[in-house]
Amino acid sequence: MTRHYSSLVGWGHYAPENVVTNDDLSEIVDTTDEWIRARSGIERRHFVSPDQATSDLCIEAGRRALDRAGVAPEDVGLVLVATSSPDYLTPPVSSQVQHGLGCANAGAMTLVVGCTGFVYGLVTADQFIQTGAYETILLIGAEVISKNLDMTDRTTCVLFGDGAGAVVLQATDRPCGVRSFELGSDGSQAEALIAPSPGTRNPVSQYAIDHRTHYLRMDGRAVFKFATRAMTESLQRVMDKAALGVDDVDLFIPHQANARIIEYAAEQLQLPPEKVVMNVAEYGNTSAATIPIALSEALDAGRAEAGGTLAMVGFGAGLTWAACLFDLGPLALAPPDSGADRDRQPAPESVIDDRGVVEGLIA
Ligand code: ACO
Repeated sequence: MTRHYSSLVGWGHYAPENVVTNDDLSEIVDTTDEWIRARSGIERRHFVSPDQATSDLCIEAGRRALDRAGVAPEDVGLVLVATSSPDYLTPPVSSQVQHGLGCANAGAMTLVVGCTGFVYGLVTADQFIQTGAYETILLIGAEVISKNLDMTDRTTCVLFGDGAGAVVLQATDRPCGVRSFELGSDGSQAEALIAPSPGTRNPVSQYAIDHRTHYLRMDGRAVFKFATRAMTESLQRVMDKAALGVDDVDLFIPHQANARIIEYAAEQLQLPPEKVVMNVAEYGNTSAATIPIALSEALDAGRAEAGGTLAMVGFGAGLTWAACLFDLGPLALAPPDSGADRDRQPAPESVIDDRGVVEGLIA
């Protein structure tokens, strides 16, 4: 019987054009560029314009990933969107994305797992491909957090940004895809990172608006403590499960919340700095979008090759965490173009895999 594996054949990301620097924020709240850089490593972030919503970012990143893969929208079987900031509570944003991209033959599902959503989504997509249920899946991690930030609360508003990243996964019979994973949750710490309304616990009310309960609240120290432990321990466990060591992994792509958290984990696990992707300085924390944006940038830069092994690890609201090792299969690593139309160019229809074999990409 043919086994099915997930090959990552397309990727893309999008961040809104509007860049907000630390100095810009210091004109709004009592903070400084020095404090933000020293405590988080963040230098700037991208905020949407008033007329942009999460589906717009998803569609842009999703289209780039499909173009890169050379996959037509109507050939996508399932659209998965990981986000905690949908356009509306109802309908699910994944259906708007499915429609906006022209994925006329796809099912669509939204995963709400905070910053951990992309890794949960990757594992979910991989399972659907392994069972043979789907041939082609578009997975997007996206957030518009800026519209849920309390711009009077300096402990949160300086840390977050907006953006989206996407990957296209396709079934192949060559061994690749998720090699090992761990999905974790500790609901006892739910209040460490919470937007208390609107929801069925606290529907929209004058009280909610007066008390600003619709904004994101965070116990930074509690999350920091949780994050450092969750990241190091879950990464170690997925490497142990796969019987791989740090030397066997080509690239570590951690959730980009705070440079100090990433540096702590890298030090604990003795990861060589050149193997750790870090772009928090440019985007801040874009929650479910950080890992796919970092992944897309790393692949554009040629930091991983066909046949390479990636480690991804996220943590966030829930509190949740997720880690996985992902083997790149017959990946189309086209050299990145520099022009503005780069991601509009159709991807080549065939690629050379890690064994030097030319394989068609289009199912
Ligand atoms: N500018 C200036 N001073 C500030 C700011 C600011 N923006 N924010 C807080 N401070 C002050 C505090 O009030 C405090 O002052 P005090 O000592 O007089 O009370 C001082 O700076 C130190 O505050 P701490 O909270 O101890 O600072 P810390 O070094 O812990 O850094 C931070 C705070 C950056 C929030 C850190 O705790 C952190 O990164 N936590 C994890 C956050 C995280 O990862 N969240 C996301 C996970 S989930 C997701 O991605 C959605």
